[in-house]
Amino acid sequence: MTKKISIIGAGAVGATLAQRLLESGASDIVLLDIAKNMAVGKALDLLDASPIVGHERTILGTDDYKEIKSSDIVVITAGFARKPGMTREDLIAKNAWIVKGVSENIKRYSPDSIVIVVTNPLDTMTYLAYKTTGFKRERVFGMAGLLDASRFIYLIAAELKIPRSAVQTYMLGSHGDTMVPILSKTYVSGKPISGIMTKEKLGAIVKRTCERGAEIVGLLGSGSAYYSPSAAVFKMINAALEDTKEAFVASVCLEGEYGLKDVAIGVPCKIGRNGIEEIIELELSEEEEAAFRKSAKVIKSSIDIL
Ligand code: NAI
Ligand code: 2OP
Repeated sequence: MTKKISIIGAGAVGATLAQRLLESGASDIVLLDIAKNMAVGKALDLLDASPIVGHERTILGTDDYKEIKSSDIVVITAGFARKPGMTREDLIAKNAWIVKGVSENIKRYSPDSIVIVVTNPLDTMTYLAYKTTGFKRERVFGMAGLLDASRFIYLIAAELKIPRSAVQTYMLGSHGDTMVPILSKTYVSGKPISGIMTKEKLGAIVKRTCERGAEIVGLLGSGSAYYSPSAAVFKMINAALEDTKEAFVASVCLEGEYGLKDVAIGVPCKIGRNGIEEIIELELSEEEEAAFRKSAKVIKSSIDIL
């Protein structure tokens, strides 16, 4: 059965995600932006590529929320991206209004959908979308940990000159400065990373991973990363559509897991046709546990601003 996917925000992440989906087989895609002509123009551009790419599928660009009616999955990428020197938290005032309005429309037009949040500050916006839609928490989650882990894996593999597929890791906590690399569960070809890399080298890679988003913002000069973020959302959508039940770190509102309540934070989750099918509680080292709690505290104080 064809599944309908709506992307709210046709900017860098939204449009790149639309291209990934359209060119890999999705056939019922709506790309919505407050800037109507932009969404329509990007949809036309993607369609003009279809004879070259070789597909007969279609995508609709619009500014009308009626078009997202009965979507199976809605992705929220609407909102402002960082400028050089800004933190993700600096976006809260502007983006909270946007995400609230978008979530109200999702509730109205696609009450049975799975919602994937991308807009920053990610964990706070995920919490806001969850509360505003009133959907079950399993159907409202945020993308970040999968991207942060991918950046970490890439940097480890580049340093060790090994295949990226040989590295396994988790990045928990907030999508911000307090993200928590789970070094006790980071393996290279099945062997603990602690025996492979010095503490100093690993520390430098962790720091670069945490700052990777800002590094890219600084290099781009305008806007933030979108190829890797859209790849991560694509992977999550695929897990939901294909019911793969793959485990990725996603931001979800906890209800007692990890000893936390009423905070959206990155934890490993199995994703399938119902959204989050299971939250996995990892055994953390004392240091990781403390860092995770600190990260939750930072998110809670951001949620308090809402
Ligand atoms: P962008 O500026 O290229 O696109 C954002 C789009 O949202 C614009 O086209 C704008 O017109 C649209 N928009 C604004 N208000 C809207 C509304 N009320 N309804 C519909 N559309 C609206 O930004 P980009 O690079 O696509 O990033 C989008 C968001 O995602 C930012 O907040 C960014 O920080 C965040 N982000 C999060 C990542 C993560 O790992 N969670 C990774 C990359 C980006
Ligand atoms: C990133 O990490 C902007 O949050 C986004 O690249």
